[in-house]
Amino acid sequence: MCGIVGMLGNRNAVPVLIEGLKRLEYRGYDSAGVAVQHETELELRRAVGRLSELENELTQHPLSSTIGIGHTRWATHGEASVRNCHPHTASEGRLALVHNGIIENYQELKGDLAGKGFPFQSDTDTEVLAAHVADCTAEGDFLEGLRRALAGARGAYAIGLLSLDQPGVLYAARLGSPLIVGKGRDGVFIASDVPAILPQVDEVIYLEDGEVARLSGDGVEIWNLAGEAQELKWVKVEMEDSAVDSGGFETFMLKEVHEQTRVVRGLMDQYVKDGKISFPDLDMSVGHIRTLQRMMIVSCGTAYYAAMYGRLLIEHFTSIAVETDLGSEFRYRSPKIQPGTLVATVSQSGETADTLASVQMAKKAGCPILTICNVFGSSLVRESDHLIYTHAGPEIGVASTKAFTAQLMVFVLLTLHLAEARGELTPESREELLAELQKIPTAIHRVLENKEHIKEIASRHHDGPSSLYLGRRFNYPMALEGALKNKEISYQHAEGYAAGEMKHGPIALINESLPVICICTETEDEVAEKMISNVREVQARAGRIIAIATEGDQRLNDITRDIIFVPRTTECLSPLVNVVALQLIAYYAAQARGTDIDKPRNLAKSVTVE
Ligand code: G6P
Repeated sequence: MCGIVGMLGNRNAVPVLIEGLKRLEYRGYDSAGVAVQHETELELRRAVGRLSELENELTQHPLSSTIGIGHTRWATHGEASVRNCHPHTASEGRLALVHNGIIENYQELKGDLAGKGFPFQSDTDTEVLAAHVADCTAEGDFLEGLRRALAGARGAYAIGLLSLDQPGVLYAARLGSPLIVGKGRDGVFIASDVPAILPQVDEVIYLEDGEVARLSGDGVEIWNLAGEAQELKWVKVEMEDSAVDSGGFETFMLKEVHEQTRVVRGLMDQYVKDGKISFPDLDMSVGHIRTLQRMMIVSCGTAYYAAMYGRLLIEHFTSIAVETDLGSEFRYRSPKIQPGTLVATVSQSGETADTLASVQMAKKAGCPILTICNVFGSSLVRESDHLIYTHAGPEIGVASTKAFTAQLMVFVLLTLHLAEARGELTPESREELLAELQKIPTAIHRVLENKEHIKEIASRHHDGPSSLYLGRRFNYPMALEGALKNKEISYQHAEGYAAGEMKHGPIALINESLPVICICTETEDEVAEKMISNVREVQARAGRIIAIATEGDQRLNDITRDIIFVPRTTECLSPLVNVVALQLIAYYAAQARGTDIDKPRNLAKSVTVE
């Protein structure tokens, strides 16, 4: 969701800006633009649609300068049009600004500024922010004026700014939206994330909320909003560039689906040493774990389904009462969280606005915060007392896959850790589960090997307007995730349902044209037979059944010919395997429907607005 990149260097910045914007494409956008600084003017190029449109514009009207800013916009205020595209200017083009986030008091500011004669061409809050900065910096010290302007802007922002009054200087600031500063051989940079400028930089600084950075020929300087100079905390970049290319796969999503074997194995290597589970950043004593009575897990999107799975596991293996909620709901209801309730968040990006606001609310209520996250140094990580990284590596496909599986895996390990510390798991059960876990990477690999069969089934069934996904207990969240994946990338409406609830509504939808994806891998527990009964209810109404079942299970043979067999594992671990089949179903359905799989329309990878 909106991407920012900026450069001040010793060569033409424009190709670097475009390359950086391409690397930010995964966040989701609908228009893009760049601005560069010359001695007497700031020049802009902007275009609606994919970056290729901006590149065409630059081919027709080339730009060159050693200092510039670029932006991909995901529309919030006003439609995707050139007029609304960033960079926005003020003071007759003397100042240009790119912005990620939302300025909540922009209407109020706009009224004041219009009264002072500032003209507005767009519908955006960003143009208002540009004018507001121009107004505050018109006289006196520029930095002081910029700080005053930011202090008067309510909401969230990450910005990059050029001004003709400050030649050869690039300003950046953040509050609630991510922004980094980097340095490398060819200059200094700003960006929304590390992958955007990875080939250019050796070291980066993660800006803190309220900080303003000034990049110039003299290097980088940073102040807080009170105007105090801050120490520069450079961090060496460890990420490999191969982590952000598609490695010969036709899409990033397919690459990331295939990486799951390695990610799951990697998490075990990371967190299980000599049969003992330990999380280096968790920082939670055995005493604390033993006193835990309640947990609340808050998250959004795919991560919410991981949270649902986490709840099922923790309640199954420990006596801790666990609730889950969506960030966007939690923050606006009146949750009765007692001080001491462990509030956990799960997030790939660590930047999701609703999850972040929920954490801030829980902190005020006196709750310790545990974050399960994929991105080092992200906002959620910084708000948390206890941390577990999911170590899935950069996820570029908008639809989350490997980050989700990593979240599931972390919940398994966390559950075992909690249960063991509380004395609620016998050493035998623990050994048994760990032994089963060791087999999961191979099981995932076997599902991947079966992809041609899954492709054949998916491309045969995803022609209709809708599909239904059913699962029970540990696989109920997987039914929700399977349906979400399908919606996100194939644009086919899909609904995930608890199989036992089907008779209370969705059964009315079933006919010979509705594909019903049934997760039936339970063979022994108390829901195994019940799930088969639900499948028979679909069969009795001539639904098109696609079953995911355990190898060797004969029970579905007379019900459907479309069965995706997956390796046998313990019921509670089966989601880790089943979800891979569900991802592939969605993937090949999307491929058959000809969608843009890595960048589905309207979606953003990192949702930094409410
Ligand atoms: C967006 C992404 C989803 C993600 C959700 C929550 O909607 O497209 O893939 O699950 O945000 O994001 P988070 O980064 O908090 O996991």
